Amino acid sequence: MCGIVGYIGTQQAAPLLLEGLARLEHRGYDSAGVAVLGSGLRVAKKAGRVRDLSEDLPKRFTGKAGIGHTRWATHGPANDVNAHPHVDGKGEVAVVHNGIIDNAASLRQRLTDEGVDLVSDTDTEVLAHLIARSAAETLEERVAEALAAIEGTYGVAVLHAEFPDRIVVARNGSPLIIGVGDREMHVASDLGALVRYTTTVAHLDDGEMATLTATGFTTYRQDLTRVQRTATQVDVDPASYDAGEHDSFMRKELLEQPAAAERVLRGRLDERFGTAHLGGLNMDARETREIRRVKILGCGSAYYVGQMGASLIEELARIPADAEAASEFRYRNPIIEHDTLYVAVSQSGETIDTLLAVQEIRRKGGRVIGLVNVVGSAIARECDGGIYLHAGPEVAVASTKALTNMFLGFALLALQLGRVRDLSIADGKRLIAALTAMPGQLQEILDGEEHLAEVAQGLAQAESLFFVGRVRGFPVAREGAQKFKEISYRHAEAYQTSELKHGPLALISTAVPTVAVVPDDELTDRNVGALHEIAARGGPLVVVTHAGVDLAGLGVQRVDVPRSERELDPILLTIPLQLLAFHAAQALGHDIDKPRNLAKSVTVE
Ligand code: F6R
Repeated sequence: MCGIVGYIGTQQAAPLLLEGLARLEHRGYDSAGVAVLGSGLRVAKKAGRVRDLSEDLPKRFTGKAGIGHTRWATHGPANDVNAHPHVDGKGEVAVVHNGIIDNAASLRQRLTDEGVDLVSDTDTEVLAHLIARSAAETLEERVAEALAAIEGTYGVAVLHAEFPDRIVVARNGSPLIIGVGDREMHVASDLGALVRYTTTVAHLDDGEMATLTATGFTTYRQDLTRVQRTATQVDVDPASYDAGEHDSFMRKELLEQPAAAERVLRGRLDERFGTAHLGGLNMDARETREIRRVKILGCGSAYYVGQMGASLIEELARIPADAEAASEFRYRNPIIEHDTLYVAVSQSGETIDTLLAVQEIRRKGGRVIGLVNVVGSAIARECDGGIYLHAGPEVAVASTKALTNMFLGFALLALQLGRVRDLSIADGKRLIAALTAMPGQLQEILDGEEHLAEVAQGLAQAESLFFVGRVRGFPVAREGAQKFKEISYRHAEAYQTSELKHGPLALISTAVPTVAVVPDDELTDRNVGALHEIAARGGPLVVVTHAGVDLAGLGVQRVDVPRSERELDPILLTIPLQLLAFHAAQALGHDIDKPRNLAKSVTVE
């Protein structure tokens, strides 16, 4: 949430900063701003998108050092004043900040009592004033002193007119990556903003700071003792951060799913012994056997796919498993058991609620593994081991390909856990064959996009919808509703099909369609029975199902997906729901990659 960029070198900073901000815009898009140091410190900031800022940038906004920010509002509305960078009263210090300063209210009071005129509603502004008021000699000391006064999370970058040869940055809970160029240095909160310029990068850890000059960088802890961080080469294709020929990242990422699925499975399936090889778990067979329970933690879509994962683990490994919203977990003083395997699932590896849950588990001596997409991210580094998802960069706010790979990651985990227990080699082989077929089946569903686009046109007209499913199908319905509401802004409510008659059936009418998940499984008859109850009340129905499921007499719009093994069906049933959400949002003319009020990677609690 929120994006930071910084540049110091031989080129004009502003165009580079604006280009970097455009690449980070999915991190927050309610306002944007830049500060450059030329003959003095100059700041331009504005509510709205990066392109609005670019269009309005004053002429001769020159300087070869600068910082920039794209905001997702936490303190105060999205307006020009609250946009970053924030400056001190004299306009000598400029600060951009990701994260939240928890003691901002008391610091604001203290500064106001001391006669400082605070102009914004933000927590960040205090930081600019604290730095400006420090009497310490060096900029590093001034920033460290200011940071010592604040409680909370931050990634910050600071420019100071008195120290025009440097940018000072600091990290505590919000990522910062330094990019090393040729007589120039970059910094950003996300690799995607750097890779156009350099793939030689160094990651800062929490509690660390760095000074960037045109010729290099130094890293140190907040007590200013040196710490060695060496820049390394990252193997990343800059084009993977571009939408290419697609008009949205979401569409690009939807279509990438077959290839992404191949990547997460590659080299991990052992056909001979009908099992999976997940070296990154750092657990031998004996340790794996000792697991008595699995607890999965994630947020939003990652939580819903965690519920799918829990079913997979119970079914294949017969280990009791459940998923819980990571955002709630640590607030109920959870009991951490030594024979429970905790699994944190996250695309970004940055979601603060999930990270804090992982830290709580580790503090209490629990073992936690991560299913994470972003390599080297905070959650990945905090875990005892894990499975990288290899989905590639996911830029659209609505998660698609990462979610699919999370499901496949859970399938691999369930297979490995199952095969050291009671899952037979024959069953292992059956599942491996199904997993191997999965990329092709994903493609088959994507090929049916036209029909889904038509169905979505109709759904987009409804103000309110139900998404229903049972047992394995319920998390599918939850994820379908989540995706739909997230980008179409329609009220979409997920329910267990079996629970409708216990209350929500009262809402069914000709104006409230239901999207029902009805796989061909042991519950089909009961599911179809519930569909009759909806149809009898005039509720329009869209049914995501398998060929052969008899829906005669119901007057439904049906969407057939290819069959997998029953345990693996949930992900194939999910893909049409992604496409329905995408096309409904498109029919409504929404900005699909940047849904209102949201941002990619939720790094604030
Ligand atoms: C929904 C969506 C969010 C994320 C959630 C967790 O499409 O993208 O619900 O799934 O914020 O994010 P990660 O996976 O980065 O931890």
